[in-house]
Amino acid sequence: MSESNGVKVIGSVEDFTAFPAHVKVDMQPHYIVEAPRIEGEEQRYTLISAICPHAGGIVRPHLNELVCPLHYWCFDAKTGESTNVPGETLECAPLEVRDGKFVLVEA
Ligand code: FES
Repeated sequence: MSESNGVKVIGSVEDFTAFPAHVKVDMQPHYIVEAPRIEGEEQRYTLISAICPHAGGIVRPHLNELVCPLHYWCFDAKTGESTNVPGETLECAPLEVRDGKFVLVEA
């Protein structure tokens, strides 16, 4: 991972063959996930924090969800929205693909 001018390079797209893909960003666990696809658009990707908003557990992929093993809050693996605790969500940020790399553009 490298950073310059508010653009953080997460890694080469070709290094990730399956999603959710575990990555560390700023030493914290995250997943690169495929965002919900809109017909006719290219696949978009999202960086989702693996840290559960309930009490800091580390969520893990299970079927189409990211599941926290501590108290079983579950999150949609494409949007980060909880599927069993209304209104809760994992921190998410859109990723861009530039020159074959996933990049996070910080405001
Ligand atoms: S810390 Fe994740 S459900 Fe409680």
